Amino acid sequence: MNKLRIGVLGCASIAKRSVIPAIKSIAEFELVAIASRTKEKAEDFALEFGCDAVVGYQELIDRKDIDVIYMPLPTGLHEEWVVKALEAGKHIHIEKSLAMNYDSAKRMVELAREKGLLIMENFMFIYHQQHQFVKGLIAQGEIGEVRCFRSSFGFPPLDNDNFRYNAALGGGALLDAAAYTVRVSQLFLGNDIKVEAATLNTMNTEVDLFGGAYLKAPDGMFAEVAFGFDNFYQCNYEIWGSKGKIIVHRAFTPGIAFKPKITLEQQGDNINYEIGAENHFVNILNEFKRCVIENDFESKYEEILNQSRLLQELKDKAQ
Ligand SMILES: NC(=O)c1ccc[n+]([C@@H]2O[C@H](COP(=O)([O-])OP(=O)(O)OC[C@H]3O[C@@H](n4cnc5c(N)ncnc54)[C@H](OP(=O)(O)O)[C@@H]3O)[C@@H](O)[C@H]2O)c1
Repeated sequence: MNKLRIGVLGCASIAKRSVIPAIKSIAEFELVAIASRTKEKAEDFALEFGCDAVVGYQELIDRKDIDVIYMPLPTGLHEEWVVKALEAGKHIHIEKSLAMNYDSAKRMVELAREKGLLIMENFMFIYHQQHQFVKGLIAQGEIGEVRCFRSSFGFPPLDNDNFRYNAALGGGALLDAAAYTVRVSQLFLGNDIKVEAATLNTMNTEVDLFGGAYLKAPDGMFAEVAFGFDNFYQCNYEIWGSKGKIIVHRAFTPGIAFKPKITLEQQGDNINYEIGAENHFVNILNEFKRCVIENDFESKYEEILNQSRLLQELKDKAQ
């Protein structure tokens, strides 16, 4: 296969910290260029990562030597730039959350489908082996019948100028933190869950700072999720069954050298497992590559649409 030539739209901290190093580590990807609104930022990133510096996002999209755009822009800017990138014939690896609302997600997916291009949301945590380990424990009957799923993701306040406090840019804990808890709920309860009740709290700011929701599957299984960025740090889920409970302590953000701990609680017994360290940013890029090679786009469109439907339901129920 020819290399997938990739361009990065925006000098985001997540790009610098995690995604560009992951791109650079995969032989089948070639980092071609990085675009910023400002020349200095583009040049700094380009120097650090050994690629071209481009000033202006459209200038990068117009390049003919790029197959894939990695887009770590704030959610509020996604639809505009996704449409432009798809119109230019590029596949897109995009940061969560993809869309401001469900209708916007549908428009982006319909265009990707029409153009025959991949669009995939960077929920990298799904590709860490620790979740398969948990599924294995459940399949072996270690906790009996699953009775309840709970997940929390929240962290202390961010700098005041962070785009997450700007509603027009897609700020708020729903699109930022709740997105993880809603995504992981689908992993364990299936795609047919619905949001039954929700709350979002703005504390008189222009965005939601924290909240929670109750989601239910057709078979009666349910999830309780809580999230926020005015919170004591939490990044976990637990699955409570008829005979035991599994706790995943670092569910969404295990660093590349970090060995996640998983606790299995049974009557009179606690077992702590240590899972091997993995780079889930590399794993999801390998999945992206597989989808392009195998023309497997539909499964990713479905994931995007289901995730966006649930976030929309959560927002609607909270009003
Ligand atoms: N998957 C994950 O693990 C993960 C982790 C953290 C964040 N994220 C997601 O990644 C995205 C970026 O998050 P981040 O924390 O890296 O943010 P960030 O450092 O603020 O980066 C956002 C980038 O967007 C560009 N941008 C364009 N217009 C902007 C505007 N009006 N205001 C602010 N930035 C603007 C900027 O690039 P230029 O100035 O170079 O044009 C900026 O560097 C978000 O969607 C976030 O949810 C994902």
